[in-house]
Amino acid sequence: MEHIFHSIKLSKDSKNPLYTQLYEKIKEMIVHGVLAAGTRLPSVRQLAGSLGINQITVVSAYRMLENNKYAFSKPGSGTYVAKMLPLIRPRTPENESMLTDELYHQDDISLIHNGQIKINKDTVNFASATPNPDLFPVEDFKQALNEVLDRDKGNAFGYQESQGFYPLRESIAKILHQSKIPCSADMLQIISGAQQGIDIISKAFLNQGDYVIVESPTYTGAIAVFKSRGAQIIDIELETDGPNLKILEYNLNKYRPRLIYTIPTFQNPTGYSYSNFKRQELLRLAEKYNAYIIEDDYVSDLDFELKGFIPIKALDKNHRVIFIKSFSKIFMPGLRLGFMIVPSELLGNILEAKHTTDISTSGLIQRTFDLYIRNGFWDKHYRFMYQIYKERYLAIVKQLDENLPDSIQFMHPGGGLNIWLDLPYGFSISELVKQCAAHNIVFAPGKIFYCSSSSQKLNHIRLSFAAVYTEQIHEGLQKLAEIISGILNKQNQYRNMPVL
Ligand SMILES: Cc1ncc(COP(=O)(O)O)c(C=O)c1O
Repeated sequence: MEHIFHSIKLSKDSKNPLYTQLYEKIKEMIVHGVLAAGTRLPSVRQLAGSLGINQITVVSAYRMLENNKYAFSKPGSGTYVAKMLPLIRPRTPENESMLTDELYHQDDISLIHNGQIKINKDTVNFASATPNPDLFPVEDFKQALNEVLDRDKGNAFGYQESQGFYPLRESIAKILHQSKIPCSADMLQIISGAQQGIDIISKAFLNQGDYVIVESPTYTGAIAVFKSRGAQIIDIELETDGPNLKILEYNLNKYRPRLIYTIPTFQNPTGYSYSNFKRQELLRLAEKYNAYIIEDDYVSDLDFELKGFIPIKALDKNHRVIFIKSFSKIFMPGLRLGFMIVPSELLGNILEAKHTTDISTSGLIQRTFDLYIRNGFWDKHYRFMYQIYKERYLAIVKQLDENLPDSIQFMHPGGGLNIWLDLPYGFSISELVKQCAAHNIVFAPGKIFYCSSSSQKLNHIRLSFAAVYTEQIHEGLQKLAEIISGILNKQNQYRNMPVL
């Protein structure tokens, strides 16, 4: 426990006073689950001694944690992590649907929740990578649900097999054959969303202090899971065609990580995809250094330019890959449904971790989804969503090509739901957030997708188009480009001012 606090680094040169820096660091550990609810924080004397700072600094930081409800004190006993974390802003039916997992625990986007940036039905929302509820196939799902209730009666509500409802696993195995991954129902594990998949794998295979390799930047939900297990994260910079292989191998050799977490197709947040060469090389290196790959496939089916990337799992002859599939971006995220393909020698550990987590994914939801697939609704809905998203994708890349100033770079990802803009070094993203908010436009600042401030790059933004209507894209991006140009002009003016 103590070593977690030893790793805190405070800067005496920063504009922020030491006590607010300390408050932020401890708050981050609490929010990311590194410090569990009810944990006793070190005494003021201990922490001040180990960090080489004044006791008053620690007292002030603890007071701030208490004032903001992240901690409470027991007189004569010490300061403890709060049992329930504070809600940033009371949720209402209007803003509830706008929440995404990323929006929950990131400071910049939390501006949205604490009311400084408001989301309403007119907001041009480039921040959310989750479909709008008006696209959910409620009627077809209702029909399948009613059929299951008539057919299975009480059985739909009993405990289910932890590995998942067998007929659903059969239906999914059939779909997978079309996507070049040969697999049988026995290799599948049903999960309550991809997020749970990452959590279960970590629970099964990671011990405190184990190393995990991730891409930099990457999906914040995965970072949070690895941190919560006490893993040490090595983030490897992502190039437009995958990680730099030399740096990857150097780190594999040096740290011998248990897991490599990757999103090889239309990555979140960058939209980049691994070349086929890098997919093969990643597998070869994982075998050489005895690591397992988590392949997180959250949107490979949204391949608008027909790039035809081959899943790493399809190349996995020596059983190194745990493949995770989310249905949240095409179907309904609140159902909490996904699956994993697990190498047979790992299945026992995964099953145990799933069982201790929630015994099984809801039987009613699994049975309904199985019937939904068998009745042909899944195929129909996928085609519908593909068309909607493709239209939005084409609109967004066209607008960006036509409107963005030349100094802003971005790559056409070819698919997925995100576009990553590379702004000039020194560009003020916080000014952009503020000015866009004044015009009811929101997006995700790139810095939230990094695991540490040392690897953080400050000059990117992520534009997602899952929750933005095609009609809003044109106007929204014109305004965004105008605001970016305005900020660039102002910054250039200051740079060119004579020094007096
Ligand atoms: C890359 C990635 N993996 C996993 C998830 C979580 O998906 P699910 O809703 O299936 O838990 C997300 C959600 O945004 C994601 O972007």
